[in-house]
Amino acid sequence: MKVEEPKEISLEGKIFEQYISSEEIDSICTRLAAELNEEYSSYQMEIILISILDGSFIFMADLVRKLNFPHRIHFVKLKSYEDMESKGEVKYILDLQTDVKNKHVLVIEDIIDTGLTIESFVEKLVASEPLSVKTCTLLSKPEVHNDIVELQFIGKEIPPEFVIGYGLDLNGYARNLSSIYKLKV
Ligand code: IMP
Repeated sequence: MKVEEPKEISLEGKIFEQYISSEEIDSICTRLAAELNEEYSSYQMEIILISILDGSFIFMADLVRKLNFPHRIHFVKLKSYEDMESKGEVKYILDLQTDVKNKHVLVIEDIIDTGLTIESFVEKLVASEPLSVKTCTLLSKPEVHNDIVELQFIGKEIPPEFVIGYGLDLNGYARNLSSIYKLKV
């Protein structure tokens, strides 16, 4: 059943307009999954997928159902954003519960803004001596992070807009929306 996707929504006194439809998100996920399947199908061992909560839970759920290589799924919960901005510091709310030494790791993120969260997490992972660490993000804001981190799999590059929906939130709200909305200015 297709859920109705309003063109505009009002949240916390702000207006957001539809930006990326659920159809476009699905085709982005399909394309990313094909790229990941091509990359990892030749690896002779399972891949450790790590989803960064909270924002990536819907993207992760859709993506993994399109993957066809052996993998195991883990979650970490990191926090750097409050309201509509990065606080410049990454808090570990739930740390990784597995050892990645001598494993291939793929980190799944919803959106890269300043790059601080993914940079800090990848740095921490590398210290545990994995065989490889690659990153996959649904959205990326290159004008904000200026490519400070190397991203291997990028769904869509967007300008420095604040977006919500499809897992992305404003103060915990709007994660359930099927499409992605941007702040209307
Ligand atoms: P970074 O550390 O600045 O790259 O921010 C990464 C995290 O901030 C993401 O995982 C999101 O949780 C949150 N974030 C960044 N940009 C947005 C946005 O436009 N909407 C909602 N959350 C965002």
